[in-house]
Amino acid sequence: MPKHIAIIMDGNGRWATQQNKPRTAGHKAGVDALRSTIEVCASYHVEVLTVFAFSSENWGRPATEVKILMDLFMLTLKRQAKRLDKNNIRLKIIGDTSKFSLTLQKKIKDVEELTADNSGLLLVIAANYGGQWDIEQASLRMIEYASAEKLALTDLKISDFLSTAGMPDPDLFIRTGGEQRISNFLLWQIAYSELYFTTTLWPDFNKEELDLAIKHYSSRQRRFGKTSEQINEST
Ligand code: IPE
Ligand code: IPE
Ligand code: MG
Repeated sequence: MPKHIAIIMDGNGRWATQQNKPRTAGHKAGVDALRSTIEVCASYHVEVLTVFAFSSENWGRPATEVKILMDLFMLTLKRQAKRLDKNNIRLKIIGDTSKFSLTLQKKIKDVEELTADNSGLLLVIAANYGGQWDIEQASLRMIEYASAEKLALTDLKISDFLSTAGMPDPDLFIRTGGEQRISNFLLWQIAYSELYFTTTLWPDFNKEELDLAIKHYSSRQRRFGKTSEQINEST
């Protein structure tokens, strides 16, 4: 079982278009798919689930779609906060949240605080997130920290300053919707993740689909640069 699963939830718009519905309907259905994925991951005792909800490039979409996505994010946080807490799930948002409305920023902070002491699944939502932004902000903070603490940069590690500091790197990376690209999601962190791409559109993603991805993951031999023989010897 992977400890950390990272998912690019792609294909909401195409799902809606296929059903002659507005793209919004796809995003709403996407929230339902996320809810059930969270439940399955929690039941499998996955430690961390990181999902890409809004990229730093998604601001380039039509203003109406951006607004709908922001409203949906707010509404979902409002509606799901208690349930997340009841299920012992800890929520963390990664990304440059300073670009969000003050009410949304406050809501994010409130839900993070509400769930901060939970010991079950860590749910990480990447919102206004970009992998390149993350490496940049980590580098800048590391330099500042080194100078404030009078430490050598060579004694510090970038991974301790990334927004995912303290979490294990993703073991399994999933992208739905058929595209085989990273779209500026976690860049540093997926260095050794097993990659799984499916043409299933995100709103159709379910337990069976997740099981397929996990099965694919468990059939891989992770060598981390070593030889097969070395891995076989040590297991
Ligand atoms: C992913 O689905 C959700 C977000 C990017 C917010 P899309 O909206 O990208 O759906 P497609 O790729 O257009 O089908
Ligand atoms: C990636 O999907 C971002 C999210 C799922 C939030 P996009 O639909 O934005 O990616 P591209 O544009 O196809 O690369
Ligand atoms: Mg897309």
